[in-house]
Amino acid sequence: MKNKIIIANWKMSLLYQESMDVSSAIVQLKKNIPQDVELVICPSYVSLSGVAALFKDTEIKIGAQDIFWEERGAYTGEVSPVDLADLGCSYAIIGHSERRMNLGETNVMIHDKVKMALKNKLVPIICIGENWDERQVGQRDYVLIRELNEVLGGIQIRDGDSVIIAYEPIWAISSGKGIYAEPEEVKYVSEVIRQVLIDLYGASRIESSIRFIYGGSVNKLTIRKYTELPRIAGVLVGNASTKPEEFISLIKNA
Ligand code: PGA
Repeated sequence: MKNKIIIANWKMSLLYQESMDVSSAIVQLKKNIPQDVELVICPSYVSLSGVAALFKDTEIKIGAQDIFWEERGAYTGEVSPVDLADLGCSYAIIGHSERRMNLGETNVMIHDKVKMALKNKLVPIICIGENWDERQVGQRDYVLIRELNEVLGGIQIRDGDSVIIAYEPIWAISSGKGIYAEPEEVKYVSEVIRQVLIDLYGASRIESSIRFIYGGSVNKLTIRKYTELPRIAGVLVGNASTKPEEFISLIKNA
């Protein structure tokens, strides 16, 4: 396993041709990517196979931005995790706050998606985080503990499985105003999350199978603040990952 992981979430920010153009630029610039950094690109569903083909002979990995909780059936508009794995995905973002807010995704749905990801050998990148109001009334830890327990409770993590927990405070995502969680806070939150995971799985399972990352307005100037922290395995990057030069500088600064 590489030292740090950087996951690019392109959301619906890049259309098909733009995704291909940015991917080609990343392939051109990839000699600048340090050897110890694992890079995962999560393009839109429509762009997935094209982007996967461009990265085929590189070490760059592909992830989906979501998966469904069943493998096949009468589920209009959904995408099977089996197809995503076959297309070359090795990761899947699950429970992103934009899906929780815009589509009403619940912890129950996210729980089922995580199970399905593990069944299909996709590494789930499970997003958790509080909103501004919850934070203002001191409920941050409560929200994180509840989300973790509801999403992971009853799910076994076995030898060979890999899981990523992404702390993504909702107020820091796509802020566009340079609003992000301070490293001291991310460090504290990593300890809270670790404690819940110890209760669920035990410390040795965390060492072998669970990584913790931060996401929310990470850019080339702030990335180092997080990657320097002891228990932080990497970052989830939205906006700053859609511009190739900026993204490569961000990776170099990791
Ligand atoms: P952002 O997005 O970097 O644009 O804040 C992060 C995310 O939503 O994963």
